[in-house]
Amino acid sequence: MLKKIIAVFAEKFSGQPVVFRSPGRINILGEHTDYNEGFVLPAAIDKNIYVAISKRTDKQVNLYACDFEQVYSTDIETIKPASIQWPNYILGVVDQLQKNGHIVGGFNLVIDGDIPIGAGLSSSAAIECAVVFALNEIFELGLSRLQMVPLAQKAEHVFAGVNCGIMDQFASMFGKKGHALKLDCRSLEYEYIPIGLTGYKIILFNSNVKHNLVSTEYNTRRKQCEEGVAIIAIGHPAVKSLRDVNMQMLNAHAADMDAVVFKRCKYVIEENERLLGACIDLQKGDMKALGKKMFETHYGLQHEYEVSCKEIDFLVDFVKDKEAVAGARMVGGGFGGCTINLIKEEASEKLIEQIKAAYQNEMGLTLSVYSVSVEDGTSKT
Ligand code: GLA
Repeated sequence: MLKKIIAVFAEKFSGQPVVFRSPGRINILGEHTDYNEGFVLPAAIDKNIYVAISKRTDKQVNLYACDFEQVYSTDIETIKPASIQWPNYILGVVDQLQKNGHIVGGFNLVIDGDIPIGAGLSSSAAIECAVVFALNEIFELGLSRLQMVPLAQKAEHVFAGVNCGIMDQFASMFGKKGHALKLDCRSLEYEYIPIGLTGYKIILFNSNVKHNLVSTEYNTRRKQCEEGVAIIAIGHPAVKSLRDVNMQMLNAHAADMDAVVFKRCKYVIEENERLLGACIDLQKGDMKALGKKMFETHYGLQHEYEVSCKEIDFLVDFVKDKEAVAGARMVGGGFGGCTINLIKEEASEKLIEQIKAAYQNEMGLTLSVYSVSVEDGTSKT
């Protein structure tokens, strides 16, 4: 991948680039909790976005995406959202840097990677993190990782139109080999928890579907949670987010809110509680207990938060009663993408064969399978 991106850079532009990488992420537990100021438990994986970059002496920005074999050029002083999507993850970062008073000059950039797009593994956050890290380095902006993360997140809000939480960018930037990141999305305090898999593997099943609902439904979920908070806050002025709400408080207000809003809030409150237990399971290496919580999370995402889809539910249902599987659930925003599975090492090969065949038969779709390892966050290569 490195050799290829340098060769492509030499072919498209001139000069010697510097190459940066930023990983995709999985999330062990804590889905749709980040923008509710709750907890998440992601980890960076061995799939990356790479950017090869060099400074220019003028104000020109030239971008080339290997996946799309497409060039996009603009002037650094007139950055605005492009009509095609991929440049926006890059330009959105430039825009945020400029809005925060940082001076960025012209540059040439080639982007490549092996994070599947639309698979719920945060390829977009990985682009934003790789780009902000690269620009920070080559233009010597002096930003810390903690300062870069919200800029990358904001780029997604403004140029990609998804009001995402902070989990993906945080995980990509702060990932640590062999560790999950327990992040408090309110205070941004975090703790690394070693992932001892005690005979299990983390295997992702990519449904290879991406329903076109992601950004609209995502933003709707966020609003529904805010609606619940606003109702509860009438009687409890200290309540600022679902992080401040427990089930007793929610139940006490059930009659004041729409049944759908109630379901959304219930899921988030329970997911936060589950996550605290999951961290203990992970520390103890108790994969069975952790896996049980993953199945519970999936149930909540499917029936209460309603962000799953039939293909993903099929994949979770298929492994549910298998002795070799401790747990499984959808990962990321939802409406397609991957499931994350904890599968006994010795049984994984056979199970993969079975599920691939069943998925093809029942859904008429090809399943992609990734056995992932947990790696470090954004870096210069
Ligand atoms: C997407 C968002 C994250 C998070 C997840 C759901 O990946 O980018 O901020 O909300 O969905 O947990």
